[in-house]
Amino acid sequence: MAIRDIVQYADNEAALRKKSEPVRFINRRIKLLIKDLKDTLLDRPEGIGLAAPQINVHSRVIVVRLGGRGNGSDEIGPPLVLINPEIIEERRPEKDFDGCLSFPGLYAETVRPHYLKVKGLDEWGKPFTRVFEGFDAVLVHHEIDHLDGVLFIDRVASINDLYRVREDEKGELVRVPVTLEGA
Ligand code: NI
Repeated sequence: MAIRDIVQYADNEAALRKKSEPVRFINRRIKLLIKDLKDTLLDRPEGIGLAAPQINVHSRVIVVRLGGRGNGSDEIGPPLVLINPEIIEERRPEKDFDGCLSFPGLYAETVRPHYLKVKGLDEWGKPFTRVFEGFDAVLVHHEIDHLDGVLFIDRVASINDLYRVREDEKGELVRVPVTLEGA
């Protein structure tokens, strides 16, 4: 049984699975989308990245907050917008933490590149090429996946790499394995 058959989907599965189209012009619609993505991400302090299909818009725009988990810093950056992001080089695949705002409470260990060179447009339509390393690379890779309808559960190799986090009776966060029955 595949992982994707056992996890409970968000109610917007169809939207999450649809491939997004490239942005041609930074018009009013895209500017509103950028604002919406930034506002939505800032409203969710537990999240560090968001892609347009997660709010049911199928344009290739993602927003990330760099310096999050894994870089040994609590100084998470402001939302950074990447339009039409395209991976031109990826290296250092390693297993690391993964999770998604569209799957609250569900986490996993997945293998993703820890060195990622990406080109695209910034929020003002200016071309850039930029290298992301460590967990920033993981994050950008996760969000670019969303633009192609790929979800983190697709990259989970084994059910043993999937878990939920719940509060125990003392209010401490504990890992709960995902089982075939209880997913
Ligand atoms: Ni996600």
